[in-house]
Amino acid sequence: MEWKAKWLTPETDLGETAPLFSTEFSLARKVQNAVLYVTALGVYEARINDSRVGEFVLAPGWTTYQKRLQYQAYDVTDMLGENNRLEVLVGRGWYRSRLVGWQDSSYMNELRTNPPAVLAQLEISYEDGSTQTILSDESWSAAGSSVLLSDIYDGEIYDASIEHSSRGSVRIFDGPFQTLIPQQGEEIREQERLAAAAVLVTPKGETVIDFGQNLTGYVELSLTAEKGQVVDLSFAEVLDKEGNFYTENYRSAKAQYRYTCCDGFQTYHPKLTFYGFRYIRINEFPGGVDKVDPACFTAIAVHSHLKRTGYLRCSNEKLNQLFDNIIWGQKGNFVDVPTDCPQRDERLGWTGDAQVFIRTACLNYDCERFYTKWLADMSADQGENGYIGHVIPDLLRAPEPSAAWGDAATICPWEVYLAYGNPKILRSQFDTMKKWVTYITSATTTPGLWTGGAHYGDWLGLDAPSGSYKGSSREELIASAFYAYSTALVVKAGKVLGEDISTFAKLYEEIVAAFRGAYPVYKTQTECVLAVHFALAPDPKAAADQLAGMVRKAGVQLETGFVGTPYLLHVLSRYGYADLAYSLLLREEYPSWLYSVTKGATTIWEHWDGIMENGDFWSADMNSFNHYAYGAVADWVYSVAAGITPVEEYPGYERVRIAPIPDQRLDWLEASLDTRHGRISSRWKKEGALWKYSIDTPVPAEITISGKLHRVDAGSYVFYSEI
Ligand code: BGC
Repeated sequence: MEWKAKWLTPETDLGETAPLFSTEFSLARKVQNAVLYVTALGVYEARINDSRVGEFVLAPGWTTYQKRLQYQAYDVTDMLGENNRLEVLVGRGWYRSRLVGWQDSSYMNELRTNPPAVLAQLEISYEDGSTQTILSDESWSAAGSSVLLSDIYDGEIYDASIEHSSRGSVRIFDGPFQTLIPQQGEEIREQERLAAAAVLVTPKGETVIDFGQNLTGYVELSLTAEKGQVVDLSFAEVLDKEGNFYTENYRSAKAQYRYTCCDGFQTYHPKLTFYGFRYIRINEFPGGVDKVDPACFTAIAVHSHLKRTGYLRCSNEKLNQLFDNIIWGQKGNFVDVPTDCPQRDERLGWTGDAQVFIRTACLNYDCERFYTKWLADMSADQGENGYIGHVIPDLLRAPEPSAAWGDAATICPWEVYLAYGNPKILRSQFDTMKKWVTYITSATTTPGLWTGGAHYGDWLGLDAPSGSYKGSSREELIASAFYAYSTALVVKAGKVLGEDISTFAKLYEEIVAAFRGAYPVYKTQTECVLAVHFALAPDPKAAADQLAGMVRKAGVQLETGFVGTPYLLHVLSRYGYADLAYSLLLREEYPSWLYSVTKGATTIWEHWDGIMENGDFWSADMNSFNHYAYGAVADWVYSVAAGITPVEEYPGYERVRIAPIPDQRLDWLEASLDTRHGRISSRWKKEGALWKYSIDTPVPAEITISGKLHRVDAGSYVFYSEI
């Protein structure tokens, strides 16, 4: 693709108003094929003859803009007629919004010195073999639009009553060409539509609509009104314990939506921003808020367009709700970038959260393209010295990386490779992986360990000293354990790629030895978990026994945070404590996965007790109700409870191990997984005094039932074991 178009910006500063760029043209001959190439500094919506081009919401998506800016190609053959109008509306988007709510980001300020801009090229081939190109150039217009404000955190203000007649001039702008790349990730699209589940009047007398599901997206209005009447909405994830609308946990994100009506019937939703919410409060409505008709409001969930691949179901309805919450947590945090949360003044691509959740993510959905794009941004953002940011795209530019966050550089490519079996991701990320490990080697103050530095520790661990977000596990133990794991993954990836990995293999041996010397004892649940899961404990069984003892001593409770939680159940079940792992999974009292379910959660919470037993909130400032990280437990259900385990030597489920572990507290459980080789499913259920296992495999499998191994070809199998 060769760009001949010019970057355009409005001649006059339109302030907060989103510019509408447009051109008109006539076509005399019959069009055989037409492709619109377009991108923007901001987010855009393109329209031809008043119909939306494509389905991509918030295009061109979010990348490390200074190095990579995606453009999109849309087949618009069927949209063109004799006389045509092409329009592109550009909002601030991730490029120019006030991102990182609590920080003055120099990176963002630098981007914002660029004005909003568009680049468009329409390439037309006629049936007679001739071609024509319509380019963004001096002849275009840039006028103010009805979008008076659009911002990622702050929402949208829209005035449908404005009469648009004026044509504004454009200025040619020296925009980026070197950094343009074709669309690499998945498109963000509108997905589910949800009607209002209930209309409430809160104790404060406010009118609130409950959509029954915490989601990421926006609200569509459909109503008949008079010009100048206003619909004004606020968004919230939860109600407080009195039942009042609660927005404090959005922090500085205004998340507003103010719509001024035109005359007659109208349907509209914001196009250039998104919200994380379950409830809306109606602040203003034509005729008064007591006249609200819930049918006027539809919630539209918006997220990356991924194919669903994994399904979990069982006889316990609370667990099923948890599985649904994990799926919704993934949807809501997969808006082009894997984010921590979608609602407060954050919504950032936190690397730690991403590595914690990635295995589950790749089971639930086909995420290969999604992560391939994000990992390319990680490489683009990596420091010369190997530094990996806390968030990608790296808006924070923190002075130092953190263990378990930066390690996303090695863990994520490896998980994508395991899930889909395509070594391309290892090839494209291998340098980044090596540079990350080399960074640690040069930054540490003790060879063989990672000492020094500034880390998040076992973030949100329940064994945290009072007032701290960091669990009690030793930061340097965590950092050293991840140093070992990352180095091991570089060695594995190098082997797949046929690279010389002798230096890293030797380094790995040194780290294991140094770790064993420095940390002969483990003091917390997370320390035990890491020592076993990363194969660092000289006697893993003893460390797993110690872990089981700690869990029991705590009252069959987990105390792990972001770092230990994803592996906790795995370590227990691998060393004979599946029963205890199930006890943690099925526990309903705080702290547990099902506690939030008993409190009515429809997504995964950031804190085990985001809403405490007495109904109070854990805190006002760090309390997301849509944080996918702890949803990582789904991986254990697929791979241990149902027993569908990837085999490293046959990545992408070219072969599979299936070793289900049933538990008496459930009558049945079922998992299915659409792999690149077909659907694997594993189901067990009680039948009298027996467990009946039904297994379908599209590939040769090693099936282990009650300790007995069966090697089988592709097919459907039934086994029994005694309960
Ligand atoms: C985010 C987390 C993130 C953390 C870093 C928080 O503000 O929401 O999920 O990993 O900061 O410690």
